[in-house]
Amino acid sequence: MSDNRVYIFDTTLRDGEQAPGFSMNIEEKIAVAKQLARLGVDVIEAGFPIASPGDFEAVKRVAQEVRGTVIAGLCRANEKDIERAAEALKYGERARIHTFIATSEIHMRYKLQMDPEDVLQAAVAAVRFARNFTDDVEFSAEDATRTDMDFLCRVVEAVIGAGATVVNIPDTVGYTIPEEFGERIAIIMNRVPNVDKAIISVHCHDDLGLAVANSLTAVKAGARQVECTVNGIGERAGNASMEEIVMAIRTRNDLFGLTTGIQTQEIYRTSQLVSRVTGVYVQPNKAIVGKNAFAHEAGIHQHGVLSNPLTYEIMTPESVGVPSSRLVLGKHSGRHALKERLASLGFDLDDETLNQVFGKFKALADKKKEVFDEDIIIIAEEELMAVPRAFELDYIHTTAGNKVLPTATVRLKRGEESFQDSAIGDGPVEASYNAIDRITGVPGKLLSYQIRAVTHGREALGEVTVKVKFNGITVLGRGSSTDIIEASVKAYINAVNKYVYKKKREEQGADS
Ligand code: KIV
Ligand code: ZN
Repeated sequence: MSDNRVYIFDTTLRDGEQAPGFSMNIEEKIAVAKQLARLGVDVIEAGFPIASPGDFEAVKRVAQEVRGTVIAGLCRANEKDIERAAEALKYGERARIHTFIATSEIHMRYKLQMDPEDVLQAAVAAVRFARNFTDDVEFSAEDATRTDMDFLCRVVEAVIGAGATVVNIPDTVGYTIPEEFGERIAIIMNRVPNVDKAIISVHCHDDLGLAVANSLTAVKAGARQVECTVNGIGERAGNASMEEIVMAIRTRNDLFGLTTGIQTQEIYRTSQLVSRVTGVYVQPNKAIVGKNAFAHEAGIHQHGVLSNPLTYEIMTPESVGVPSSRLVLGKHSGRHALKERLASLGFDLDDETLNQVFGKFKALADKKKEVFDEDIIIIAEEELMAVPRAFELDYIHTTAGNKVLPTATVRLKRGEESFQDSAIGDGPVEASYNAIDRITGVPGKLLSYQIRAVTHGREALGEVTVKVKFNGITVLGRGSSTDIIEASVKAYINAVNKYVYKKKREEQGADS
């Protein structure tokens, strides 16, 4: 391994997904994992297998289907957890078992109710046991930044002695500040005698808004793996943001002299995908991937950038893959042209999925003169992450206005059968949702509704994301159309289908 390579360990699917409001179903997790592999992350932490049957299934499927990167599964420091992780990971090309136990006084006393010596023994035993299943074992000392320094060094030394190949120093509660954290890493690097036998990793939470700064300071002090998430999602205030870490290391190569294996031009697309599958939009001023990250509004800035981009631009939008809304195809474009364009955007679709995407593309091109990359990305992703369609929209008619009672008539297909009903509501969207509820017989509680234009202009494709609770189960639905009522209805039907799918999987013993 090269000393100036920083390994990127992505925990979007574990620490990111476990945050409230960020859950993903199994197809979405696989789509994200495949994109993470394309992005070039070194490790994908796919979940916490013992946490639920759904988590187990997700780690297993990611291990089976995603190639070219290490797949990790999290487990506590006990044999049952480790066996479950090993079982989920066993089909992987390269598997890592990531085991952890808390080492701070407060966690040991109040959470674990264990003595420090017992914690140390449990950590060593867990690493040894995990090594029976794989040579790639990571140990995390949870709440390391509030752990007694001498004890932390003893733990690091002992787990390396037991066979840990990566030792992670998490700032679990986002408590530390850069100078202090850098010192902590430096002490470990200098004081632990066998530290050269493992990679020191860091995992920072953003409670004080310092996760990225802390991670970068740790890297300066010798850490060579950074754990992070796309868009910085994660528990509470989130984790260190992958795109910020990677672009800081790249942009300030003069200072760090380090590299990562990330294909930076895949960053934007990964960020958009995670945002779409979680239904959580990226704030416009978010560094690297926000809508305004490369927009120069002030006249004086615009003038400078036009004369020489380097006046105000420290990196280019192209370097992180921000698309320039290129016009791609029109209504006369054929399947072959679409396939080629999708391939250049990184989509390798089987014939059946391509047919579906092509049908939708033709329908869109009929309504919209110009079809952009962003439009076909949305269509392709919708197809790739599609759950079985219990219901499909066949027909929708709504009336609305300032002096009429909004009404909707909806016809849905379920296989060969058709079901139709009408309802009223506060507006055409609510009326349609009421009509769908009458058809399915499962009323949904709308928890959130968001709409955005995928590209610019009046005929832009509108994308609607809804969060709906059916019978206590919350699901996210997405739909797109140039007609926002149709997009809203499609999003709701997508949520219904996800609910039906989730229920069925629960009945079969997998809950994702
Ligand atoms: O924040 C944390 O400490 C964690 C560990 C399990 C690595 O997520
Ligand atoms: Zn964490």
